[in-house]
Amino acid sequence: MRKLPELNPKTVTLAPTEKSHMLGKATPHESAKLHLTGKALYIDDIAAPQGCLHAYVGMANVASGLLKSQDLTNVANALGVVDVITVKDIPGQTDIGPVFSGDALLVDERIDYFGQPLFAVAATTRDAARKAARLGQAEIESTNPILTLADAKLSNKQVRPSHSLIKGDSKEALKQSINTLNIDQKVGGQEHFYLEGQVSLAIPQDNGGVLVHCSSQHPSEVQKLVAQVLNLPMHKVVVDMRRMGGGFGGKETQAAQWACLAALLAVRNQKAVKLRLARSDDMALTGKRHPFVNQAQVGFDNAGRITALDAQLNGLCGCSPDLSDAIVDRAMFHTDNAYYIPAATITGHRWFQNTVSNTAFRGFGGPQGMMLAEQMLDDIARSLGKDPLLIRQINLYGEDERNTTPYHQTVTDVDLPRIIDELVESSDYWGRREAIRSHNQAAVKTGGRYIKGLALTPVKFGISFTAMFLNQAGALVHIYTDGTVQVSHGGTEMGQGLYTKIAQIVAAQLGLPLAHIEVTSTRTDKVPNTSPTAASSGTDLNGQAARNAALTIKQRLVDYLVETYQVDAQDIEFSQGNVSWPKHQISFAQLTQEAYLARISMSATGYYRTPKIHYDREQAKGRPFFYYSCGASVSEVEVDTYTGTYTVSQVDILHDVGESINPAIDLGQVEGGFIQGMGWLTTEELVWGQDGRLQTNAGASYKIPAVGDTPKQFNVALLQNSKNHEATIYHSKAVGEPPFMHGISVWSALRDAIWAFGGEKANPQLDAPATPERVLWALQEAKEQAEKTTRGAS
Ligand code: MTE
Ligand code: HPA
Ligand code: MOS
Repeated sequence: MRKLPELNPKTVTLAPTEKSHMLGKATPHESAKLHLTGKALYIDDIAAPQGCLHAYVGMANVASGLLKSQDLTNVANALGVVDVITVKDIPGQTDIGPVFSGDALLVDERIDYFGQPLFAVAATTRDAARKAARLGQAEIESTNPILTLADAKLSNKQVRPSHSLIKGDSKEALKQSINTLNIDQKVGGQEHFYLEGQVSLAIPQDNGGVLVHCSSQHPSEVQKLVAQVLNLPMHKVVVDMRRMGGGFGGKETQAAQWACLAALLAVRNQKAVKLRLARSDDMALTGKRHPFVNQAQVGFDNAGRITALDAQLNGLCGCSPDLSDAIVDRAMFHTDNAYYIPAATITGHRWFQNTVSNTAFRGFGGPQGMMLAEQMLDDIARSLGKDPLLIRQINLYGEDERNTTPYHQTVTDVDLPRIIDELVESSDYWGRREAIRSHNQAAVKTGGRYIKGLALTPVKFGISFTAMFLNQAGALVHIYTDGTVQVSHGGTEMGQGLYTKIAQIVAAQLGLPLAHIEVTSTRTDKVPNTSPTAASSGTDLNGQAARNAALTIKQRLVDYLVETYQVDAQDIEFSQGNVSWPKHQISFAQLTQEAYLARISMSATGYYRTPKIHYDREQAKGRPFFYYSCGASVSEVEVDTYTGTYTVSQVDILHDVGESINPAIDLGQVEGGFIQGMGWLTTEELVWGQDGRLQTNAGASYKIPAVGDTPKQFNVALLQNSKNHEATIYHSKAVGEPPFMHGISVWSALRDAIWAFGGEKANPQLDAPATPERVLWALQEAKEQAEKTTRGAS
C-alpha cells in the first residue's frame, strides 16, 4: 500500500482517492504511437513560417590560436545569403558560459578548439547556408594545442581549481594498512549520439522579442542567454520545448549556442531562422562526456576490507568550465560507489584541453568516479585470490559506524545487501561461476579459443542536484469546463517518459482517466525560472509541483462541494472521472461546470523544493543527496582470445525504483541506460588527430552498440517491496541515470575473463573503452605475466 506524504498540512481534508488505478500502471509513453508512426513533431518538423531563413556557422581549422582577421566577402556574396555576423554584431553579452564565463558565442580572438564557430550566416536554404559557411577566409596565428593530460599538466592549465573531499587521516591510515595497491586507470569520454541533433527555430515577435523552439533540457537557461546576447529583458524571450529526440545531458548547456545564433539572426532580419547542425558538425562542435584519468592508492586488510583511500581524479574538461566543477564533484561523490571507506582523501582536478568543452552526460561524472571504485574492488579481490563478489559484499555500506561517506553524509535506507542477495539467487551467480571456472580452466589447459568472464557490480547513485538551488520546480494546471485538464511543468521530455508520469500523477490526484490530461509543451511563459531536466530529478521535482497544483484546485472543488451540498470533505471521492459522496455521484465534468458558474478558479500553480538537503562545499561536508538510487547487475561475457572480440552472453539487472509510477517506462530506462553504459565502456571510442580534429565524427567511425551487441539473454527486474525512506513522489525513485552504471559489470566481466586467461595469476590494466584491441592487448599481457610468474616459480 502506498503511504502518502502530506505535502501541505493545511489541506488534509481530502478524501483518500490517491490510491489510483493510474499509479504503478504500465501505460505506454504518451507519444509512443507518434514516435512509431513518425508523426511526433520534433523541431525540424514544425511547419516553419513563410520566408524562414536557415543559419549555419563558419568553423576554425585549428584547435588553438588567435584569430587575426577574417574576410567574409565570399560568404556574403554567395548564392542565397541574407546575413553574415561575427562577434562584433552581437548587441549584448558575447559569452554564454552557463555558470562561469569561458564559452564564446562566436570567436573574438582566442580559438580554443578545432571547428569553433568564427561567424554565422543566414541564407534562404540550409544548403546555401552550409555552402556559404565554408567560404570564410580567416587569418589565424596557430599555437600548439593542449590535447592530453600530460600537456595540460605541463602548462598547468585547469578550467577550475582542484577540490578535495577529506574524511579522517588517509595518509596515516594508508601507512597503517596491512596491504596497499596502486591504480592508474584511463576512462574514455562519450558522444551523446541523440537521434535528433542540436536544433533551434527562432521566430521574431512584434514586441521586439523572440519565440525560440529549442531542443533543450534547460529552456530557462536558453531564455536567459538569448536575452543577454540580444540585450533584451527576459520577458521578451519565450522558449518552447515539446520533445527532444534524446538529450542524455548533451542538451543541458549545449543547446544554447545554436538558439542564441538563430535568435540573433531572426531579430536582426525580422524573419524566422532555423539552425540545425549536421551530424558530423554536431559531433565536432558540442561537448561530450569527460574522459578521466584516475589514480589511487588503496589500503586494505587481509579479509579485503578497505582501510584507506587516497585518490586523484583528473577530469579532462576541454576548453571551458561549462559544468565541469559540478561534474568532477559528482565523480568525487561516487568514488566510493557503494563501499564504506574509513579514511579517504579524494581530490578532483579539472584540466584544460584544446577540445570542445566537455559537458553533462548521463551520470554526470558519477560513472567515471565509480569506475575507480569497481577497479579497486576487483584488484583487491585478485590480490587476495578471492572472488570479487565476496570482497564487494563485505565492503558495502552497513550500519552504525560503517555508514558515513567521504563527504560526511550518512547512508541510510540503502537496500544493497538485499538487492545483491536476490540478484545472486536469480542470476545463479555461484552456479555459473563454477561452470565458467571449469570451462576456463579447460580452455587454458587445452588452448581453447574462448574464455568467459562473470562480474556483479552494484550501483549507488546520489539523487539531487549538488547545486542546491536547482532542487526546485514549478507547475501550472488548468481545468476546463468540460473536465479536461492541461498541465505545464518545468521539466522537459526527451524520451524518458516524464510527461507520461506527470499525466499519471495528475490523473491520480483528480481521479481522471489519462485521456483527460494533456501535458503541454514546456514553455518559459508558463512556468518561469526552471531548473534543467537533469540529475534524474525530472519526476521527483516536477511531479511534486504538478501534484501540488492539482491539489490546490482539488481543494477548492472540495470546499465548493462541502459548502453547496453540506457533505463531509472526508466522504468525497474523485475516481474514474466521477466525484461521489454518500448517495450522490456527478461526473468530474459536471463538477467543473458547476464550479465555474459558482466562480471558482480552476487554474493553479504548484511549487516544490527538495527538503533536508544541504551542502557546504568549502568544508566538503553535508547531505548533498536526498536519497540514493540503487541496483546491481551481473554480466557474463565470452571473449575470443584470438581476436579480442567478445559477446555479452547474459545480463541480469535488479534495480530499485521504489514504488514505480510506470514500470514499463522504468524498465525501458533501466534497459536503455545499461546499453548506453555498456557502449561507453566497450565500443564507443573518441579519437582526435594530432591537430585536435575529431576523427570519429560519424556513425561509421564512432560505434554505439548495435542490436547484435546487446546481451543474448537480458533479464531486467525492478526490486519488489522497496523499503522506503523519504517522501518522494508516490514513493517512486529517480531512474534516469543510475542504470547507466550497470554497464560497469560488462567491463568488470571482461577483466574477469582476462584474469582467467592468465591462469588467475595476472591482472593487467584494462582501460576504457575496452575495445577488442584493448582486450587483446590485455590478454597478451596476462599471458606474458602469467608465464613469467610460472617461470619464476619453477
Ligand atoms: N532517456 C531517454 N529516452 N532519453 C534521454 O535523453 N536522458 C537521461 C535519462 N534518460 C534521457 C533518458 C538523463 S541524462 C537524465 S538526467 C534523465 O533521463 C532526465 O530525465 P528525468 O529526470 O525525467 O529522469
Ligand atoms: N546533475 C546533472 N546536471 C546538473 C547537476 C547535477 O548534479 N548540477 C548542475 N547540473
Ligand atoms: Mo542528465 S546528464 O543529468 O542530463
